[in-house]
Amino acid sequence: MDQLDRIRAEALAAIAAADGLDALEAARVAALGKKGSISALMAGLGAMNAEERKEAGARFNAVKTEVADAIAARKAELEATALNDRLAGERIDVTLPARPETTGRIHPIPQVMEEITAIFADMGFAVAEGPDIEDDFHNFTALNIPPEHPARQMHDTFYFPPGADGNRHVLRTHTSPVQIRTMRETAPPIRIIAPGRTYRCDSDMTHTPMFHQVEGLVIDEATHMGHLKGCLIQFVRAFFEIDDVPVRFRPSFFPFTEPSAEVDIGCVRRDGELRIGGGEGAGWLEILGCGMVHPNVLKASGIDPDRYQGFAFGMGVERVAMLKYGIPDLRTFFESDLRWLDHYGFAFFDQPTLAGGLAR
Ligand code: DAH
Repeated sequence: MDQLDRIRAEALAAIAAADGLDALEAARVAALGKKGSISALMAGLGAMNAEERKEAGARFNAVKTEVADAIAARKAELEATALNDRLAGERIDVTLPARPETTGRIHPIPQVMEEITAIFADMGFAVAEGPDIEDDFHNFTALNIPPEHPARQMHDTFYFPPGADGNRHVLRTHTSPVQIRTMRETAPPIRIIAPGRTYRCDSDMTHTPMFHQVEGLVIDEATHMGHLKGCLIQFVRAFFEIDDVPVRFRPSFFPFTEPSAEVDIGCVRRDGELRIGGGEGAGWLEILGCGMVHPNVLKASGIDPDRYQGFAFGMGVERVAMLKYGIPDLRTFFESDLRWLDHYGFAFFDQPTLAGGLAR
């Protein structure tokens, strides 16, 4: 039975030395497995007589149980150690800053509308709205664009089928009808901006059938062209966040204003890139239309042109957004590509506060 003692000692030593579950399993197989040392020894029982077998059998079983218990105990030990190691390794460091949440991005259109609104809100403008589906009167006639006026062709209008009264509604081609609605509903002084969707039957690199404009309107007894210029120069500086951005008022024509002007800002084109500002090689880029409200427009809106006057302006939101944030292709605004939105979109905390417009 020396052999059994040796095998027992060997097995217990291997179990004690096992430094992982794999090593422990190897020790178990070496002792208790089908071809293990104890099993091999037990195979010899058959050759013994009944008396010997009884005694040897009892000793074998005792050793087997002892070895099995030792394995179970070591296994529990190793498992506890593994768990503790894992817990130590996975401890959460509550002092780390929170990961930014990726809950989505704000599209550049609402972002820029919000920026524009914040700046004009600082100057005392209120926000006005009107319907996307307009009648001919508000979209054209009241804006001094009578039927057969060539400006109607220029607008590439989406027309609805004529109604029972023969009038055709349109998808508004600009935000200017909100001027008319506001003047017909409110007595001067008026100081509003009207951000919103506009539609024209046009589609290429720089035109989409739906786009956005912000309209502005100021009406009182004393507002003149100087106020128009001051207001828009102030706006351009605040919006592009460049104090010395060159601004130019270039004479132009709109049926609803007289005189009319287009506003250009200085920009430098270099290596295919466009940078807002003046200096070497600077050129001009048109960003909006404006003018003193035409007396015919005031009359059509029920306002006495001999007493009241004021200015109006209109700008394309996509256009100024592209310029400010370096977005090269207009059509990408409406492709709903999440990678694009990830790149050009804004986190929630980029939103300007109402008080933040002019201060920046
Ligand atoms: N309605 C014009 C357009 O869509 C933009 C515009 C120009 C608006 C001059 C105005 C203005 O109020 O005064 O092209």
